[in-house]
Amino acid sequence: MSIEDLESVALAMVAPGKGIIAIDESTNTIKKRFESVGIENTEENRRAYRELLLTTPNLSEHISGAILYDETIRQSTKDGVPFTQIMKKNGIIPGIKVDKGTVPLAGFPGDVITEGLDGLRERLAEYVKLGAQFAKWRAVINISEDNPSSTAIEANTQALARYAALCQEAGLVPMVEPEVIMDGDHSIEVSYEVHEAVLRSLFNALYEQNVLLEGTILKVSMVIPGKDADEQVDVEEVAEATVRVLKTTVPATLPGIVFLSGGQTDEQSTAHLNAMNRMGPHPWPLSFSYGRAMQQAALKLWSKDLKTNVAEAQKVVHARAKDNGLAALGQWKG
Ligand code: 13P
Repeated sequence: MSIEDLESVALAMVAPGKGIIAIDESTNTIKKRFESVGIENTEENRRAYRELLLTTPNLSEHISGAILYDETIRQSTKDGVPFTQIMKKNGIIPGIKVDKGTVPLAGFPGDVITEGLDGLRERLAEYVKLGAQFAKWRAVINISEDNPSSTAIEANTQALARYAALCQEAGLVPMVEPEVIMDGDHSIEVSYEVHEAVLRSLFNALYEQNVLLEGTILKVSMVIPGKDADEQVDVEEVAEATVRVLKTTVPATLPGIVFLSGGQTDEQSTAHLNAMNRMGPHPWPLSFSYGRAMQQAALKLWSKDLKTNVAEAQKVVHARAKDNGLAALGQWKG
């Protein structure tokens, strides 16, 4: 893939009014999501659920791409059509999660590091053959009295940059995801400071590793107080702080920024994105790459009857995509 191809895929991922649906839960994570609504975590249930999501009628009106998990990118519809084929036919760009999750960072209690660089070049080559056009790697940054250490920030952003360079070598657009976790009782000011340090470190690392920013997408958390913080803040404050930290750290050459939902409610995730876009124009499109905030309502509905509730659940997926697509334009009315 040429540089122009990387750039054009990156731009298509953040086309006006469109965002990404993240359905890249590992087998362990989807188990937790299924268990919360009483669905058995079998391979067939996972396949059927991802088919429901990916074949939602007219999904591409508001969705540009979907992030898959290793098992999912190898699966097919019940009629035997590979998921990546049906996605491309329906105008949805296939993406793939390529990190192998987090482990404790030795020597730094409370900090974690994402694994998955060993053998990544070969895995990326296989994913390209399977039809992927972009890839995602998630770094996790925890906040507490003692976290994150600067060592954790640097180790994680270095891994993100090495992964991003390997992606571009393979012809995949890297979606670099540093997630600052919402758990804890920290204030919005602390969230801001951590985001600022992480994003500065990330863009330094991407520069050091010769990553082409024009062919890279940033997926990031919002600047928000910890879930257990005494003082919660309004939508405008989250939007203002998030836009401010992005403007001070993210180069304007980046084609786009998408957000994760990270445990926000559906309504919050849409309202925050909408408020940010109403403050525009910004140097880059601001859109969504939500997992839970795109899926949780549909999953709940589907869980009530896996056979008969497919079309109704798809309507809910489409409605969430529409709301978030409008929020990506600052046109959501609530
Ligand atoms: P949530 O929107 O549920 O946080 O998931 C997005 C994602 O891909 C996290 O890596």
